[in-house]
Amino acid sequence: MLRERSSRRRMASSSTAAAALVVAALLLSSSPSPAAAAAAGRGGELRMKHSDGGYSYNRTLAHIFVQYASAVYTSDLTSLFAWTCPRCQGGTKGFEMIEIIVDVENCLQAFVGIAPDPQSIIIAFRGTQEHSVSNWIEDLFWKQLDVGYPGMPDAMVHHGFYTAYYNTTVRHEILESVWWARKTYGRLPINVVGHSMGGALASFCALDLSVKYGSQEVQLMTFGQPRVGNPSFAAYFSDQVPRTIRVTHQNDIVPHLPPYFCYLGEWTYHHFSREVWLHETIVGNVVTRNETICDGSGEDPTCSRSVYGRSVADHLEYYGVSLHADSRGTCQFVIGSNNTAYGSILEVDRTIIMTRYPQEWHAVESI
Ligand SMILES: *[C@@H]1O[C@H](CO)[C@@H](O)[C@H](O)[C@H]1NC(C)=O
Ligand SMILES: *[C@@H]1O[C@H](CO)[C@@H](O)[C@H](O)[C@H]1NC(C)=O
Ligand SMILES: *[C@@H]1O[C@H](CO)[C@@H](O)[C@H](O)[C@H]1NC(C)=O
Ligand SMILES: *[C@@H]1O[C@H](CO)[C@@H](O)[C@H](O)[C@H]1NC(C)=O
Repeated sequence: MLRERSSRRRMASSSTAAAALVVAALLLSSSPSPAAAAAAGRGGELRMKHSDGGYSYNRTLAHIFVQYASAVYTSDLTSLFAWTCPRCQGGTKGFEMIEIIVDVENCLQAFVGIAPDPQSIIIAFRGTQEHSVSNWIEDLFWKQLDVGYPGMPDAMVHHGFYTAYYNTTVRHEILESVWWARKTYGRLPINVVGHSMGGALASFCALDLSVKYGSQEVQLMTFGQPRVGNPSFAAYFSDQVPRTIRVTHQNDIVPHLPPYFCYLGEWTYHHFSREVWLHETIVGNVVTRNETICDGSGEDPTCSRSVYGRSVADHLEYYGVSLHADSRGTCQFVIGSNNTAYGSILEVDRTIIMTRYPQEWHAVESI
C-alpha cells in the first residue's frame, strides 16, 4: 500500500488550496526572468554528463508513442487487449498485446506488447486516474526526497514514485513479460512510455531494464512527467538511460513539479535530459507549432522553464492526443465476456493480470 493514499485523502477536494498552490508554484518553481533562469540552469549543467551518445528526437516516433501513452488509459480491458479500443488506432495499428496489469489497490495500469513499427517491445504506464487531476497535482508540490536510490550514493527519489514501481506486482509482471517476449519474439529493443505519473513509473522501469539488458536496448519517452529525483539521481539516470526523451508541452504545470530550487544542492528535485519542449510561437497572427530540442542539463532555462507552468489543459494533451482517463470513476476497469484473445486472467495481490502467454509461464522465475 502506498503512503500516497493518506496524504491524498488529507488534502482531498480543497479547491482553494489548489488555487493557492498554483500561485505558489508560479512564484517558486519557474522563474520568468531569463537572467535568473540562466543562473539557475548553470548549477545543473556543470554536474551533468552529455552522454546521450547521439540519440536524437524523432518526431514520427513521438507521434506513435504518445498514442500508446494515451491508449493505456483505456478502462475497457477487453478492447484494450484486442487492440480495438478507440485509442488503439492510427500509428499503433498491428500492435499485439502480451500483458495488461491493473493494480487495483494502488490504482496503477500498465501494458506490455509488441509493435510492428518501430519493431520493438512497448511498455506503457497510465498516469493518475483520480476524480480530480488537480488534487493529484496539488499533492505533487509537497513530495519529499525521502528514499535513497539503492546502489547510488547521494541519489534521492520520492518514496511514492519509487514504491509504485518497485514495491508492487507491476514490476514483477513487466519483467516477466519482457523476458517472455524476448524469448519468444527475439531480442527486440524495448521502448518505455508514459504520461504524467505514468512517466515517473516509466522512468524507473527504463532504468531497471537498462541495468538488466543494457543501455542500448532501452529507450524512454515520457510526456508531461514530474521530476522524480535529485541532481545525483538525474546524473545517474542520464548515464544509465541515455536514450531518453522527456517531452513537455507549453505551460504544462506537471514538469515544473516537484519544484526545482537551484540553491538547495542535492536537496532539490532535478529533471534528467533530454527535454523536448512543444510550444506555439505567434508572429503577427500566424501561430506556429514549435519543438525545441533542449540542452543536456535536464533543466534548460530556455525550454519549459522559460514560462510559467500553470496549465492543466496543456498537461492533458500532447501532439493533439488526449491523455487522460476515458471514464470518470477512479480506478475503474471493465472486462467483457466475449474475448478470447488472452490466454489467462489472474488475480495476484489485488492485481488483475491478463496475459497472452499460458498460465504455467507465471511460475517461471525470470527475474
Ligand atoms: C465482441 O464480439 C463481437 C462479435 O463477435 C465483436 O465484433 C467485437 O469486436 C468483440 N469485442 C471485442 C472487444 O473484441
Ligand atoms: C523515425 O521513426 C520512424 C518510425 O519508426 C522511422 O520510420 C524513421 O526512419 C525514423 N527516422 C529517423 C531519422 O530515424
Ligand atoms: C513494500 O511493501 C511491503 C508490503 O506491502 C511493506 O512491508 C514494505 O515496507 C514496503 N517497502 C517500502 C520501501 O515501502
Ligand atoms: C522556436 O522556439 C525557439 C525558442 O525556444 C526560437 O528560438 C525559435 O525561433 C522558434 N522557431 C520558430 C519557427 O518559431
